[in-house]
Amino acid sequence: MSVSINKLKNAALFAIVAMLLGVFGTSPFLNSNLMAQIAVPVTLLSENGNAGGDSTVGAQDDGFVDLFNGKNLDGWEQKNGTATYKVVDGAILGRTAKGSPNSFLCTEKEYGDFELVFEVKVDKGLNSGVQIRSLSKPDYKEGRVHGPQVEIEWDPGESGYIYSEGTKRGWVSPTRTQKNVFKNEGWNKYRVLADGPRIQTWINGTCVEDIEMPAIESTKGFIGLQVHGIKKNVGPFEVQWKNIRIREISSNERREMKAFKGTPKVDGKVDDLWLGVPRVLTSRSVEEIDELSGDQKASTAWVRCLWDEGHLYCLAEVTDDAISSAAGDEWDRDGVEFFVDRNFARTSSYDDDDAQYRTEPDGNESTGSENDLSTYKSAVTKTKNGYIVEVCIDLKGEVGKKIGFDVQVNNDPGDGRRMSAMKWNDASNDTYFDMSGAGTLEMVEGN
Ligand code: BGC
Repeated sequence: MSVSINKLKNAALFAIVAMLLGVFGTSPFLNSNLMAQIAVPVTLLSENGNAGGDSTVGAQDDGFVDLFNGKNLDGWEQKNGTATYKVVDGAILGRTAKGSPNSFLCTEKEYGDFELVFEVKVDKGLNSGVQIRSLSKPDYKEGRVHGPQVEIEWDPGESGYIYSEGTKRGWVSPTRTQKNVFKNEGWNKYRVLADGPRIQTWINGTCVEDIEMPAIESTKGFIGLQVHGIKKNVGPFEVQWKNIRIREISSNERREMKAFKGTPKVDGKVDDLWLGVPRVLTSRSVEEIDELSGDQKASTAWVRCLWDEGHLYCLAEVTDDAISSAAGDEWDRDGVEFFVDRNFARTSSYDDDDAQYRTEPDGNESTGSENDLSTYKSAVTKTKNGYIVEVCIDLKGEVGKKIGFDVQVNNDPGDGRRMSAMKWNDASNDTYFDMSGAGTLEMVEGN
């Protein structure tokens, strides 16, 4: 991060005072999603179920490669600044240098979507961070490293949150309230999941951030280890990184999500029951429908699911800045579509168990021609930046049961027809007749 030490001190002071006053419990800045993250154990937060605990050991290592070989800096190059980086005891040790601006030790290779794990230890008084998807170009501030940074600093601080380094845009993370996660003395385990526009971070097994990145932030670039510049009369300070490992994620990796057991009231409101349930983002663009131009933004939704013996419940919190129902065909209007493959057969044409259901912001419901709307109930409420669709689908629920599942958010930005569709899993436009590309939903007990 790159802000003055004074600002940092003020922010830390504010956080401490606010916590003492209990401000965060009722803060208008703390949205329901973040409250959910804070309220539930991290193991319940991941869309793929491997969120919690030690992400650098065991089966979760599948597909990971070492970014640092523990011996030398092969594969890395320094950009900006004169801080020093050397290998000591199997770790990369970065040391501040007098008069240096922020320095970065960067991977030679670029990464877009990935899961990154590393351990880090930092001196008190030194601000640090790990750049992801970052860039350095001769025509941008003479090679100034810029891009999203995952923050590293002593607690209470803003560790794990996302800062837009070198861009003047400041913090990407709108609220930064999570404390007591970073261990000031000793090593800290970070995990960063960058999957399309969704970035999730964990420190020592606790989820700190889960955010949809604004489209202006870069989507691919190097990983960079920051040693911050320091003031004249302080330092030198050190920061160390080790066990830096990465697993690249392909853009069509089949996604999995968990539904918790519970029976919500289907009223389009985020009842307490929903707060602990893991959420997923409709972050894959249906390419053949992507016709947005200029400032037009795609609509996306955060989606959670619950189940009981006879039903699947879904809650989609949609961001849509201009609601339109002008188009003739339902699928051309703003709305959310839910797809279920009840017997998990992944057939390439619809059987009796397969269904597509759609609800528009005005509450209008529709379905594909063969489907039965009597097996579907929905409710909608409008929000500041869009709308919420809550649905109930007839379906036999059971612990451990898996079904094929997908969600699609259609968006007419005001042109009188659909210009974007964002899906959770299947980036094709075929799910209304072919369920083979849908994601996997598993019913679990939950909390
Ligand atoms: C698709 C449309 C299709 C419609 C049929 C939607 O999910 O995106 O292209 O015509 O379903 O109901």
